Amino acid sequence: MLKVEGLNVEYLLTSYKVDAVKNVSFYMKKGECIALVGESGSGKSTVAMAIMKLLPPYAKISAKEIMFDGKDILKADEKLMSEIRGKDVTVIFQDPISYLNPIISVGEQIFEALMAHNSKISDKDAQVQAIELLKKVKIADPERVLKMYPFQLSGGMAQRVFIAMAISANPKLLIADEPTTALDLTIQSQILKLLNNLRKEYNLSIILITHDLSLTSYLADRIYVMYNGQIVEEDTAEGIFSNPIHPYTKMLITSSQAIYQGEVKRLKDKMNSEKEVNSKVEQGCNFLRKCKDSNAECEKEPPLIEYNGLKKVRCWKL
Ligand SMILES: Nc1ncnc2c1ncn2[C@@H]1O[C@H](COP(=O)(O)OP(=O)(O)OP(=O)(O)O)[C@@H](O)[C@H]1O
Ligand SMILES: [Mg+2]
Repeated sequence: MLKVEGLNVEYLLTSYKVDAVKNVSFYMKKGECIALVGESGSGKSTVAMAIMKLLPPYAKISAKEIMFDGKDILKADEKLMSEIRGKDVTVIFQDPISYLNPIISVGEQIFEALMAHNSKISDKDAQVQAIELLKKVKIADPERVLKMYPFQLSGGMAQRVFIAMAISANPKLLIADEPTTALDLTIQSQILKLLNNLRKEYNLSIILITHDLSLTSYLADRIYVMYNGQIVEEDTAEGIFSNPIHPYTKMLITSSQAIYQGEVKRLKDKMNSEKEVNSKVEQGCNFLRKCKDSNAECEKEPPLIEYNGLKKVRCWKL
């Protein structure tokens, strides 16, 4: 379904450049869910936007290969990309309300999405299909919700409406970029369960992007842990949780447990202070300054090494 090989993205700003994504490779089969996990700024969204070729003009992208559903994305022109974006690949974001038009009713917006894929659809069919879609995303009383405006929706409902619009084209790949970050915990798990059901029903492939490793356990078949633009560990979800190897993966697991123990602030402070130090690292392992296990060898950059034939880890200390 999707193969990305050796992806690099640089943002060329006026006085400096940001290496946002460095030599990232991954693949996914039809109906699979992969998760890209890492802290803010690790390059997760940039990877997603690179696949859709939606990066700003000052971003420089290079890769050995990006193949999606038999199509060569690197060679695809804008016409093909806009077909792929509208139909085969859709994206949902953290803050659905800001992506919905505030002055158009939910129903009209879903009708527009349906018409974008089938311009000949009659008003009556659009109405029937919109109600079907809202039922699919488990919205109670869909007839009433169709008449509502985005500001009348709760965060969870808005995300369901957004998901309904995203699946209206029957896409092959859904990119969910922090889809539940703005929602409270119970709603978060409902939305993730909904995505999992849709995935089974439509054989939908999903890229789940999140900074919260614990959320991936609902959905992900494989997890790619990112740090500072690189993949530092990749494994099945089971392998990541039962046998984390990279010190950063271990830290993520501990920190997601700590979040549940209400230690969010302490961790954020810690991460922020360490981030400053970390941004000064120019050579060697990306994680060097934060790592408790480092030694002289870590001044050289480690490659992504196969570990036990099961997972890949970017660390010298295997
Ligand atoms: N449009 C942009 N222009 C310049 N730099 C950017 C741009 N978008 C991202 N970056 C930089 O690229 C790096 C990766 O950012 P990206 O948004 O991909 O990370 P992320 O993992 O999605 O973070 P978050 O969890 O905050 O969404 C960061 O250093 C960021 O500051
Ligand atoms: Mg992001």
